[in-house]
Amino acid sequence: MTISTEIANTIVDPTAYADGDRVDQAFAQLRREAPLEVAQPDGFDPFWVVTRHADILEVERQNELFHNGDRATVITTIEADKKVREMMGGSPHLVRSLVQMDNPDHFAYRKITQGSLLPQNLKALEARIREIARGFIDRMAEHGDRCDFARDVAFLYPLHVIMEVLGVPESDEPRMLKLTQELFGNADPDLNRTGKSITDAGEGVDSIQSVVMDFMMYFNAITEDRRAKPRDDLASLIANGKINGEPMGHLEAMSYYIIAATAGHDTTSSTTAGALWALAENPDQFARVKADPSLIPGLIEESIRWVTPVKHFMRTATADAELAGKKIAKGDWMMLSYPSGNRDEAVFDDPFSFKVDRTPNKHVAFGYGAHICLGQHLARMEMRVLWEELFARLDSVELDGTPTRMTANFVCGPKSVPIRFKMH
Ligand code: HEM
Repeated sequence: MTISTEIANTIVDPTAYADGDRVDQAFAQLRREAPLEVAQPDGFDPFWVVTRHADILEVERQNELFHNGDRATVITTIEADKKVREMMGGSPHLVRSLVQMDNPDHFAYRKITQGSLLPQNLKALEARIREIARGFIDRMAEHGDRCDFARDVAFLYPLHVIMEVLGVPESDEPRMLKLTQELFGNADPDLNRTGKSITDAGEGVDSIQSVVMDFMMYFNAITEDRRAKPRDDLASLIANGKINGEPMGHLEAMSYYIIAATAGHDTTSSTTAGALWALAENPDQFARVKADPSLIPGLIEESIRWVTPVKHFMRTATADAELAGKKIAKGDWMMLSYPSGNRDEAVFDDPFSFKVDRTPNKHVAFGYGAHICLGQHLARMEMRVLWEELFARLDSVELDGTPTRMTANFVCGPKSVPIRFKMH
């Protein structure tokens, strides 16, 4: 069985992700009728759509058989792929971060920062992160009884945390936020650099490339500074990191900063904004956490599952393989649909309900295996601290208008979450 063009077009359509229901329904239909099949949307090469939780884990577990770097790691049209390869001397990637690497490079590059992001080392940051969280909650209180929780709190708090961890000065945070939104929001006329809908693939690549170049120029200066005067920050680890005794390549170092400076806040921001949206729509769930803050870790896992801000990554088979009874050929491209895995009825009871006490909650929103999210412990910690501080002061919350989502098909979540609230 093949996937209809209509469904194939939907699962790559940025407006379907902005709608929410449209993409959820398409994946629910695929899980029922074609859980592992090939799709070919108009203008794209064919790819396998991996919709089930178990199959996503299986592909991620076999990271030598299913590679990251051999083809584009994010769904790309034929035309855009051609243009990127022309620009990058045959490579399908504009950047070369951990996401685009396979072993042995992946392991060597990941090792440089992994230790600093482990829970035991993050502990030292908790008091400072709490101070930052309190500052944002005070600012929320200054809004009175209404704010846009996405724009006024959720976009700014994780941004501030990762920029401190990375070592970017506060005065540059608005620039980092804008560049991140331009990158992930390239398909959204409200967010991208051109200020309009981009329909031409070449224009789309140019607009992303110009954002990447701005990031690189910025982080080039940071590298020089940290090589001359290393500090206790992530930028110093990257700037001075050695691979087999040699300094990291320039493209690799720049890409390392870019992933930390983008994935390091946009994902957590989306999750935080989506969590408050869900709590406002489910007052019983809000009341439960308010009455029992020991449910905060459950709220965090459920909101990560609920929002699943990373919508997919692509893998490429390095050899002929079999997966769930299907023959995958060497070179085949595969989409790991994290939102679909996180709504898989075989794993989650009542997956379309938001339940802060869902146990177990083994979502795949952070991926799995060798590439599992490097920032997962930081993300969880900063959200825990924010909710601990916010629930201590927030008495009630309700929606004050209709929230909206970003138009994008890779990393995205809420764009606006207008709320009315009472705080003490
Ligand atoms: C990788 C999700 C927060 C840095 C990933 C992947 C996902 C993901 C799905 C790919 C995993 C795979 O291929 O198996 C999320 C979510 C977050 C979050 C849902 C928040 C709720 C962060 C933060 C950082 C970060 C705060 C900051 C350090 C990275 C990096 C990678 C990554 C560097 C690449 C890892 C690799 O390829 O080895 N993340 N992320 N992420 N994430 Fe996160």
